[in-house]
Amino acid sequence: MSQQNLEALDVGTIREAFPILQREFNGEQLVYLDNAATTQTPDPVIDAMSDYYREYNANVHRGIHHLSQEASIAYEEAHDRVAEFIGASGGREEIVFTKNTTEAENLVAYAWGLNELGPGDEIVLTEMEHHASLVTWQQIGKRTGADVKYIRIDDDGRLDMDHAADIITDDTAMVSAVHVSNTLGTVNPVSDLVDIAHDHDALAFIDGAQAVPNRPVDVDAIDADFYAFSGHKMAGPTGIGVLYGKQAILEAMQPYLYGGDMITKVTYEESTWNDLPWKFEAGTPQIAEAVGLVAAIDYLEDIGMDRIEAHEEELARYAYEQLAADPDIEIYGPEPGPDRGGLVGFNLTGVHAHDLASIMNDHAVAIRAGDHCTQPLHDKLGVAASARASFYIYNTKAEIDELVSAIDDARQLFA
Ligand code: ALA
Repeated sequence: MSQQNLEALDVGTIREAFPILQREFNGEQLVYLDNAATTQTPDPVIDAMSDYYREYNANVHRGIHHLSQEASIAYEEAHDRVAEFIGASGGREEIVFTKNTTEAENLVAYAWGLNELGPGDEIVLTEMEHHASLVTWQQIGKRTGADVKYIRIDDDGRLDMDHAADIITDDTAMVSAVHVSNTLGTVNPVSDLVDIAHDHDALAFIDGAQAVPNRPVDVDAIDADFYAFSGHKMAGPTGIGVLYGKQAILEAMQPYLYGGDMITKVTYEESTWNDLPWKFEAGTPQIAEAVGLVAAIDYLEDIGMDRIEAHEEELARYAYEQLAADPDIEIYGPEPGPDRGGLVGFNLTGVHAHDLASIMNDHAVAIRAGDHCTQPLHDKLGVAASARASFYIYNTKAEIDELVSAIDDARQLFA
């Protein structure tokens, strides 16, 4: 996407909406660079959830009183708003609220995978999968007898699409891939992957946890059969995620969780299932969180997803260039550009990533260190752990300078 003509974000005004960014530790202002783990929450989202609890808190789909009607309308319409946000032309029937991206993966793995897969079938993942997808499909493979294969990544941390074309065959039943790697920052060519899967009549599941918060996403254009993301990585609340699924496929699937609200008729012997999406939303759902998610979508769209993407690309480029200039630092993933998202994973020679994150913390710089739920990828990279700085709408180049300065401190300490 050309980003030359996009107006830069007014980061000063944006920061005013995030009260937590005012916090100080050891007399130093918080520099929050752990946004791939979770983003911070702006006042409009906090206010929307607070208004819900103050004004119309009630259970949904169960009451005929005013509060329940208001809560039900807000909850149901949240599905419409999410569908509009990600370009799901099928509307609310294609939007299932889950706890998070991981639960969305598990929903499909259990409700579709356990019923449809068997010996001779193949599940194709990528070497950069998050455990949410990798562990889930690995275990479904063991239970069904389906084989799991992995699309290789090249030395730059990009998917080897020739290898993808080789290993996705007529035996492939499911291709599940991350849209943006939470460890490498790689933005994968997901439409191409989906096309290859469909050429072989396989389904495609795209994990968009690191994509939807940071760039425009159009699920109809990507054409994946399933697409998932989490509210808490996009300025929204924890406890709510989204599973998009094509309506005909969701219709054909069995429920994942049984209980109240997902049924139409129950006798002592039999039950029949509610319409989409309620068939997959058993029990009292995340009502306040759905209200908060809508407020987050409104907030982000007001800023503009294309401008958010450009801002993150600029920060990632700046961080990459600062870190790449340091001969003691090894960076993982592609060079800056349209196929790198707004995060940089790295290691400082001679300093364990956890020690590095601890020194950063002394300077009130919050990063993540560890395996980032991608242990096999770290094995492939030949490291036990990495440090990761990940950016969002409120981050600045000055904060990246703070990161670099804290790295210098760590080097002095461990020299
Ligand atoms: N998946 C999240 C991360 O990458 C938790 O930090």
